Amino acid sequence: MKLINIIKPDDWHLHLREGQILESVLPATVKSFRRAIVMPNLIPPVTDVEMAMTYRQDILNACPGECDFEALMTLYLTDNTSPADVKAAADSPYVHAFKLYPAGATTNSASGVTSLPDLMPTLEAMVEHQVPLLVHGEVTDPDVDVFDREAVFIDHVLSPILQALPGLRVVFEHLTSRQGVEFVMDAGPNVAATLTAHHLYMNRNAMFSKGIRPHHYCLPVLKRETHREALVAAAISGNSKFFLGTDSAPHDRAAKESSCGCAGMYASPVALELYTQIFEDNDVLDKLEGFASLFGPKFYGLPVNKEQVTLKRQEWQVPSVIPAGTEEIVPLCAGETLRWQLI
Ligand code: NCD
Ligand code: ZN
Repeated sequence: MKLINIIKPDDWHLHLREGQILESVLPATVKSFRRAIVMPNLIPPVTDVEMAMTYRQDILNACPGECDFEALMTLYLTDNTSPADVKAAADSPYVHAFKLYPAGATTNSASGVTSLPDLMPTLEAMVEHQVPLLVHGEVTDPDVDVFDREAVFIDHVLSPILQALPGLRVVFEHLTSRQGVEFVMDAGPNVAATLTAHHLYMNRNAMFSKGIRPHHYCLPVLKRETHREALVAAAISGNSKFFLGTDSAPHDRAAKESSCGCAGMYASPVALELYTQIFEDNDVLDKLEGFASLFGPKFYGLPVNKEQVTLKRQEWQVPSVIPAGTEEIVPLCAGETLRWQLI
């Protein structure tokens, strides 16, 4: 029997939702992760410190039993976010970043940014106060092929902004492409990226395996195998610019299994186990702790966790659905057998 111990990881990109879904999904996160960067794409979005504090309290209230989980809050960047909003976020010990959703890019992004260059004074305030900008790195132009939207975002949006503001702290969230990996590697130490377990585990064929697989649809969309290989190479490289962020994004089963199914995979119940499996497949289990537990706190300037978790090499079957009140959520790897189990 094989066991591995690592410092308890953090999830640097997580959607927790609200109400019944929040209550149903939080236990899976709390089990594997000590802290999480919580995404603000609620309806209405979390746009100021006061809203973030209310949402944080809702999360704490939903925490199961004795729970030392820490919700690291983020604010949703809009066309109206001002330099004063940035200062208020910097002054709050609970708010850790702004999240950029290009308007229309993904789930609940309608209030997102229509033109990033128009937000220059706000971005300058982020540099001044050293507040990170977390980016959903895709252009929304319908003329750009959906598989190319990340690469085009780098060339047309992110590169020019970083050229103008070389001190801007950026986390390129849920990186999905070879171009993205190269961009982050070549950028300064102020630019990092999160990697999801599902983008490391699957390529775009998973969306079309013997039929259309709505539970494998997320944004940015899964890409070709060559991109997945670049992501795995980055994750296992030991380069501290790349760290764990599940982008666990639960949706009710009916909203996914629909004629216009929404984007997002519910990854939390399997994410840590899946990352472990991927690191084992590449013979680098010794690199898991850096990726999962050390590099994120280093970028965010937060202490490393004191707790440990143990993973056991023991097969288990992922449930096919997870109940969420009157709804149900299909988790990532539903019905599959995984090799590592958190104990
Ligand atoms: C996320 C969601 O459902 O909130 N969906 C997704 O496909 N990842 C939003 C996002 O991170 O793009
Ligand atoms: Zn996300």
